[in-house]
Amino acid sequence: MTHRILFVCLGNICRSPSAEGVLRAMAEARGLDLSIDSAGTGDWHVGEPPYGPMQAAASARGYDLSTLRARQVAVEDFARFDLILGMDDANMAALERLRPAEGTARLARFTDLAPDTGATEVPDPYYTRDFDGTLDLVETLSRALLDQLEA
Ligand code: 4NP
Repeated sequence: MTHRILFVCLGNICRSPSAEGVLRAMAEARGLDLSIDSAGTGDWHVGEPPYGPMQAAASARGYDLSTLRARQVAVEDFARFDLILGMDDANMAALERLRPAEGTARLARFTDLAPDTGATEVPDPYYTRDFDGTLDLVETLSRALLDQLEA
């Protein structure tokens, strides 16, 4: 069973901590016992909480991201998790480079879990400033992921 899930973006202060918080809340609501974490491919924000405007948009929907702290993805994560989900082309390329030959984690693109959305990347709101648009997509994809895990 896929129960250890790691979300990965660039900075680990917008998209992946949002996905972590959203999936955790939705899994709890469904009574699913999952281990969920997030990390960034870059190290610029290590130790920092999620970006303020991202936290505010998430909080308005009932997701508390305040206790999360950024960390950088590590090669050991490929043994610690069953499923690693990247947000965009650059994340996937960085994860492919990091992936060890003996890694057991399945690596996938978060948007591939719900092809009907038409999205191929989760847009980075640090640049788009569309925090709610990103949360809308993250919620849709998280629901699709839980549906697949429950199926
Ligand atoms: P994230 O967004 O990858 O969704 O956390 C970013 C946040 C900060 C930076 C890049 C992406 N940055 O370069 O500072």
